[in-house]
Amino acid sequence: MSIAVVPGSFDPVTLGHLDVVRRAADLFEEVVVAVATNAGKAPLLPVADRVALVERAVAGIARVRVAEVPGLLVDFCREIGATAIVKGLRSGGDYDAELPMAWMNRHLGVETLFLPADPAVAHIASSLVKDVARHGGRIEELVPPGVADVVRARLAQEDRG
Ligand code: PNS
Repeated sequence: MSIAVVPGSFDPVTLGHLDVVRRAADLFEEVVVAVATNAGKAPLLPVADRVALVERAVAGIARVRVAEVPGLLVDFCREIGATAIVKGLRSGGDYDAELPMAWMNRHLGVETLFLPADPAVAHIASSLVKDVARHGGRIEELVPPGVADVVRARLAQEDRG
């Protein structure tokens, strides 16, 4: 059975992430979306919210499940028998950020496959979604249903201190 892991911090999950998950599910028999910790980022949403939103977003996609991964990604891959990590690339900037991780994960035993972003969603990044929402902009067209309200509620909570 071919299993792929689609990892990310998903803070929050976007339509871009969803496109990568769908395409990975066309290539592998099983896909596990790994909600992992990026040591370089302080997330807006608690991990339980991020997992719940990804679960809701992928609920209709066959052979896809979601897991919280608090530790090393390659350990999780080994644990579930995944042979590949799949990541989307929107730009050269993404490539520069992803390549060192792919090299390191390969050194640790798991290969990475990159999927070029669909141009229709290549402008969507979780960081920009949060920035648009923070300044009162509309994010409904950038994220799966239900995500926008959770992001706004969390931003309002942050504002209250
Ligand atoms: O969506 P992001 O923030 O670009 O995803 C980065 C993430 C969470 C996939 C990466 O930081 C990660 O794999 N974290 C888990 C810990 C780990 O395995 N670190 C070594 C990476 S080479």
